[in-house]
Amino acid sequence: MKLLDKFNLRGLSLSSRVIMAPLTRRRSTRTHVPVPIMVDYYSQRSSAGLIIAEGCSPSVNGAGYANMPGLYNDEQKEAWLPITNSVHNKGGKIYLQLMHTGRVGHVNNLDKGGIILGPSAISQEGELSTYDFDKQPYTVPRAMTIDEIKTSVEEYVNCCRLSIEAGFDGVELHSAHGYLPNQFLNQSSNTRTDEYGGSIENRMRFLLEVIKSSCQAIGSDKVALRISPFSYADTKEKPTEILNIYSTLIKELNQFNLAYLHLSHMGEPDPKKFKLWEELRANYTGALILCGDFTKETAEKALQNNDADLIAFGRDFIANPDLVERFKNDWPLAVRDRTNWYTLGEEGFTDFPFYKEVLGA
Ligand code: PHB
Repeated sequence: MKLLDKFNLRGLSLSSRVIMAPLTRRRSTRTHVPVPIMVDYYSQRSSAGLIIAEGCSPSVNGAGYANMPGLYNDEQKEAWLPITNSVHNKGGKIYLQLMHTGRVGHVNNLDKGGIILGPSAISQEGELSTYDFDKQPYTVPRAMTIDEIKTSVEEYVNCCRLSIEAGFDGVELHSAHGYLPNQFLNQSSNTRTDEYGGSIENRMRFLLEVIKSSCQAIGSDKVALRISPFSYADTKEKPTEILNIYSTLIKELNQFNLAYLHLSHMGEPDPKKFKLWEELRANYTGALILCGDFTKETAEKALQNNDADLIAFGRDFIANPDLVERFKNDWPLAVRDRTNWYTLGEEGFTDFPFYKEVLGA
């Protein structure tokens, strides 16, 4: 059994290889400040080998979802501190996912002064929930100026520093699922003709600048990256183009010596497409997390095959705060019932029992 073995993540000792994936839970305030029930929520799940806390905006412009948290001011930092403390007090480890929504947001959800920005003025298809008007089409982003791109890199750096001050063990830069760095990678959202668009090298530039600056700010042992080749966000790209850009990116990443690379295949039911896993294992030298509807059995198999070093579980961690103990003891998992996942309160958040409580022990 490898899944329950310890793992040394660039000096951070993880109690198992069971990782809690970042999960949108939308409990923060309207101005994107974490709330006290999030202390209980994360503390309940502290037996995960590593918690990757939910997508959190590094910028006033990047909190485009209602009630997602941010970390770009002191009030937010103070609100995250009791969360990281409670996880550490229980022996857990916790990273924060830095998620700039870019064009995947609505201006009504942003704090005062925020602007919906993207590489180009091309909107995301579809609708999202907003504070005042229910569902609305995504706001058409304004194409970022070069200055705004530089500022955005600085915002990531600031957020990296605030994350460490707020007690996180490290940060995961979210370049998956169509969020800002992914918007730069994709031709369907990036039609720029300057040094941030066009060639593969140019489309990777923003992400590589964010990674480099983040590593310089807090150390590469505390910086990780999430990507999702072939996710729903990439479906408008030519498959050969995706292979080319991600193959190139993976080789570029080796120079940074990141804490880990996190590959998500959420929304993509056909694992046969993921030949890139093999390419990754052959060409990428760092630790790899795979995430995408694994069970205990398939996770163990993936580790035995050496497809990955760590496996992340998402939705199962919502209803099973004690997922690791359930795996250890072969206890059954609670069913995934989405009904109350996005209430603003404790319901569907902190009210899932531990199996020992179910047993009445
Ligand atoms: C979502 O809130 O739907 C969401 C957020 C982050 C992801 C994927 C989906 O990476």
